[in-house]
Order: sequence, then structure tokens, then C-alpha cells
Amino acid sequence: MTMPATATRADDIVIEMSDVYAAYHGDISVLNGLSLKVRRGVVTGIIGPNGAGKSTALKTMYGFLTPSRGEIRLRGELVNGRSPSEMVARGVSFVPQNRSLFNDLSVEDNLRLGCWHFRRDKPRVQQALDRVYEMFPVLREKRADLAGTMSGGQQRFLELGRSLVLEPEIVLLDEPTAMIAPRLSRELYDFIAGLPEHGITVVLVDQNVRQCAAVSDHIYVLDLGATRAEGSRETFGDDQQLREMIQEWLDYQID
Ligand SMILES: Nc1ncnc2c1ncn2[C@@H]1O[C@H](COP(=O)(O)OP(=O)(O)OP(=O)(O)O)[C@@H](O)[C@H]1O
Ligand SMILES: [Mg+2]
Repeated sequence: MTMPATATRADDIVIEMSDVYAAYHGDISVLNGLSLKVRRGVVTGIIGPNGAGKSTALKTMYGFLTPSRGEIRLRGELVNGRSPSEMVARGVSFVPQNRSLFNDLSVEDNLRLGCWHFRRDKPRVQQALDRVYEMFPVLREKRADLAGTMSGGQQRFLELGRSLVLEPEIVLLDEPTAMIAPRLSRELYDFIAGLPEHGITVVLVDQNVRQCAAVSDHIYVLDLGATRAEGSRETFGDDQQLREMIQEWLDYQID
């Protein structure tokens, strides 16, 4: 008998948020009792309308915000209040929604900045650069160019590459394909879908419901800072189930 996808063993969960509340300012909570589980070695998708708290969920996982209530556990360890650099040291990396490159620095210098945590280990830095150039040959070609001169899609590859120099176990991606050309967007999704084969667990926040569902093993639908619905690949396997899952998401339109 095959196990249902939801019957995950505890050690398959790498990040667990339980009843998390978090605010940017004072006591106006943006996360309102958010609970979700990130399973090891697969893509976990997070979708939801604008302002649902998707980016805030990632920022809180990564330590930019400290929960006012609730728990965040990373491989079982309580990490509430850990800083982003402490999360990096624990194998978590983050590609934020808003463009995060230094446009006036070269492609290679942007990658070198990603190597900050081990900058004194020159051979490791070189290896990390070579690995990224192997993954994204266009970045090798353009390594001396200013990052700001590349196309939007190429810049997203650079951001992804920069997050991978750390050899993370978990990457948090916030709308990696927003506003880029369809061909590059497909390449990015293929790349993201392939990360688990390299032992990388992915959390993917996305506006593109169909694409997100296609690459995710499990999906959470967020609204008002909490989980409204969730489902395994089986649950959202067809459009009808996907529609039902997001029925409360009123302004959602399937394309
Ligand atoms: N830096 C900030 N300071 C104060 N409030 C913020 C900040 N960033 C986001 N918010 C508020 O938090 C709520 C959730 O925002 P968040 O960016 O997490 O939503 P989202 O689901 O990622 O939306 P989108 O799909 O537009 O990216 C919104 O009401 C937003 O206005
Ligand atoms: Mg967002």
C-alpha cells in the first residue's frame, strides 16, 4: 500500500511554522497564526492573493522578522529570533521578491558577495563561482558585465546562482519568475523543479498558480496571514480540485 503524501515522517519536515504571528510595526500582525510544514527534498509551493502574507512568511522563516507568538523549527531546532546570517549558517538561503542585485557591480562581484560567509577561503570561492557558471553558462559569458545591464530573466538566474554559492540545503524563493519573458520563465521553472535532485529543498512563493502547482509537491494557500487551504500533489492534481482549494480566494482567475 502506498502512503498518502500527507503522512510525512517527522524527520522529513525541515521547517515547521506553528501558529506563527509576526508584525512589521507594533502590534499590527501580518502573520496571524500561520502554520505550515516544509518537507525535505521537494518543492513546497505557497500561493495566495496580493497582501496575503506570502513574502512575510518567507521573511519570517529567514529571520528578518521575529514571531511575536508561535514557533519556527528548523530540523526540530527552535529558531525564533535567529538572524538571517544564523539561518544562512544553518543552510537556508533566500531570494527576495524585490530585485536584490547590486546593479553597478559586475556579475562576478555579485556572486562573490554571495560568498561573503566564506570569503577568506579563496579555493572555495573559486569552486562556488565555477559551479554557478556551470549551472548558468550565460553568467560566465557575462561575468564582467554590470549586473544591471542584463535582462530581467538573466538577473533572476544571477540571484538564484548567488543563493546557491552557499550550497544551501533549503532555498526560499519569492516569485522568481515575476515579470520575466515566458521562455526564460520556463527555463527557471525547469531549473527550480530540478533542485530537489541536487538535495535542495525548495519553498516557492508564486503568483502563477498553474506553474507553481506543476512543480510543487505540496501547496499552501495563504490569505490574511494564515493557511486557508493546503494540498498534496494528489489533492491539486486537476483543475477542479485546485479551484476548490482556492475557492475562498475571490479575485483568483484561472487563465
Ligand atoms: N515592510 C513592510 N512594512 C509594513 N507592512 C508591510 C511591509 N511589507 C509588507 N507589509 C504588509 O504586510 C501584508 C502582507 O504583505 P506581503 O508582502 O507578505 O504579501 P504577499 O502575499 O507577499 O503579497 P504580494 O503577492 O503582493 O507579493 C500587506 O498588508 C503589506 O502591506
Ligand atoms: Mg510578496
